[in-house]
Amino acid sequence: MTDQPSGAGAPRRFLFLDASSRVDGNTAQLARLAAESSLPEGAEQQWLRLDDHPLPPFQDLRHTGDGRYPEPVGHERTLLEATLAATDLVLVSPLYWYTMPTSAKLYLDYWSAWFRVPGVDFRDGMRGGTLWDVTVLAGTEEHVQPLIGTLKLTAEYMGMRWGGALIGNGTRPGDVLRDERALIAAKSFFAG
Ligand SMILES: Cc1cc2nc3c(=O)[nH]c(=O)nc-3n(C[C@H](O)[C@H](O)[C@H](O)COP(=O)(O)O)c2cc1C
Repeated sequence: MTDQPSGAGAPRRFLFLDASSRVDGNTAQLARLAAESSLPEGAEQQWLRLDDHPLPPFQDLRHTGDGRYPEPVGHERTLLEATLAATDLVLVSPLYWYTMPTSAKLYLDYWSAWFRVPGVDFRDGMRGGTLWDVTVLAGTEEHVQPLIGTLKLTAEYMGMRWGGALIGNGTRPGDVLRDERALIAAKSFFAG
């Protein structure tokens, strides 16, 4: 992740990480609307579905051997490189049990590994970036507070800015397109 550029020339680069376990779910649809209508002029975007980039179970190796992690390969490498290349990281995360789906939590656990990969300055690389959240849930908005709390604290811990959360309501795919409040919020979400 790179600092948000202040001057003209260097475009913002948004990485959308879709954590839904179904393709083209409500959350991806809402995030797409927000991207179409409110990304800053000239911003680049990359979309990755976490389920298309499965990671092995996370292992805590901090206190094993020299505490270093091996060089990431395969899907892990793809996710690491995309993360570091972004100025803005958008977690496209349906609400599962008041929090993020397993794929998103596993991806965040890997950040702990990436701190400790020789030659990768992950902490410095993330500092100054912006973390955003797009979430659709079936229940009431109070359900989403644990997830927002987790992400805000994560941003703070990483020295990132908190961009905010775009919240929609829906159960079956497409339901969110009837959530007028979410559609209005999506129109200006990334411009805020
Ligand atoms: C495993 C699982 C857990 C869920 N947990 C919650 C929950 O805690 N609160 C809630 O309001 N909705 C919950 N839902 C409903 C989803 O958030 C909702 O259907 C949402 O639209 C799914 O997003 P998607 O279409 O992008 O996959 C859950 C759904 C699943 C499959």
